[in-house]
Amino acid sequence: MRIGILTGGGDCPGLNAVIRAVVRHSIKNYASEVIGFLEGWRGPIENMVMPLTLQSTGGLIQRGGTILRTSRTNPFKIEKGPERILESMQKNRLDALIAVGGEDTCGVASKMHKQHGLNVVCVPKTIDNDLNATDFTFGFDTAVNIVAEALDRLHTTAESHNRVLVCEVMGRHAGWIACYGGIAGGADYILVPEKPIHLQDVVDSIKKRHARGKDFSIVVVAEGAMLDDKESLKDQEQDAFGHVKLGGIGDQLAKLIEKHTGYETRAIVLGHIQRGGSPTAFDRVLATRFGVLATELVHQKKFGVMVSLRGNEIVDVPVEAGVDSLKTLDMGVYKVAQVFFG
Ligand code: F6P
Repeated sequence: MRIGILTGGGDCPGLNAVIRAVVRHSIKNYASEVIGFLEGWRGPIENMVMPLTLQSTGGLIQRGGTILRTSRTNPFKIEKGPERILESMQKNRLDALIAVGGEDTCGVASKMHKQHGLNVVCVPKTIDNDLNATDFTFGFDTAVNIVAEALDRLHTTAESHNRVLVCEVMGRHAGWIACYGGIAGGADYILVPEKPIHLQDVVDSIKKRHARGKDFSIVVVAEGAMLDDKESLKDQEQDAFGHVKLGGIGDQLAKLIEKHTGYETRAIVLGHIQRGGSPTAFDRVLATRFGVLATELVHQKKFGVMVSLRGNEIVDVPVEAGVDSLKTLDMGVYKVAQVFFG
């Protein structure tokens, strides 16, 4: 067979491990060929390709980012986008495509399969862990480890200066990174998009902690957590999939905490540091297992599916199951985090 592969949406650690797994398994065990489309869905639209060989995909397991590069291109917003994708598939004599991405990339794949008959298998990735029908996406564990390490560092400086430090983390409209990172890093309060911010509660909690002799506090806030003024999001810049660009809540919150507690408070935004660098061992293994099953599904000609982690099994599910709604934070985990507030 001849197989195409692309990586779309925000990059995340583990993408290269998927590419490596697909290329190795396809060439060594099926005598198939693999070509990479560059920059997400822009690749097949503009026919931007790169041959992938055993040589060119060696030494990739530990490398962050994606050698295919990525973009947030939405083919359904581009004149004849879907048709141009099918033309590129034909031009490159491809039998199938493996699309590695989050809700947007997999959402496009699902539409391309249903409306245009594209032979596609999806591999879910995102540091946000907000894709349905899979217990975890790769990239998430790495991001959580980065947050935990940052919080360890913030603890020592916060303690030395008697400060409150507010750490804003990514995750879009889901609080997975904030909650897992916050628990792992010993946060004293965690704010997530799934629960409206009650400033008084945050303030009381910090004051209580200080009253029992702790002169510093660490607060984690998810970028999508919101104060009451949801209206403020309306004018914010949007990407091709209609997502607003988030960021800034950490700074707002730090000012409010300082005002209401009287404690010196600073904000830190971890930003893209959470997406960069090497994947953790967990993410390398998950990405590799995903890549291997995606390759097998392609060779079984089982299309319109997404690989998924269920318990410790890698299975396949219909792509729509992954993208039809957002997987928000398990509030049972948040309850565990709450035990340590104040
Ligand atoms: O979806 C991954 C993510 O890192 C989100 O957590 C964040 O809101 C968004 O991407 C940032 O996107 P960009 O890198 O395009 O600014």
